[in-house]
Amino acid sequence: MTPAEMIRAAIEARTSAYAPYSNYEVGAALLARDGRVFTGCNVESASYGLTVCAERVAFFKAVSEGAREFESIAIVTRNGASMCGACRQVAREFAPDLVVHLGDASGAFRTTTLSHLLPESFGPDSLADE
Ligand code: THU
Repeated sequence: MTPAEMIRAAIEARTSAYAPYSNYEVGAALLARDGRVFTGCNVESASYGLTVCAERVAFFKAVSEGAREFESIAIVTRNGASMCGACRQVAREFAPDLVVHLGDASGAFRTTTLSHLLPESFGPDSLADE
């Protein structure tokens, strides 16, 4: 799947966003190493702190379906914003070398990496015994 196709999938996923409080809709499309694509959207709650971001929805859907290795993620917002810190850490658990495409509603995007977004990260290896 090309980066542009990933962005299209994230744009489509964004149409399911449930964001009545922030009105900031987010869509994500996560490409697993086995070729499957898992999508996600943000899901807000009247109890605001229970909101889950689009990226984490995509990761948790994927892992719950047996995928644990990932190539890239496309994230679409109205302004092409980056992913939040909590989602960076969740992504790092499974995909420290993840490629990240950040797009806006027009389909324009830029590409970065998780290692750039989350340098010197804490991960599974950090828990290893000496
Ligand atoms: N949001 C995401 O879905 N992903 C991010 O990386 C940043 C923020 C959502 C959470 C909330 O529903 C809305 O955007 C505003 O913060």
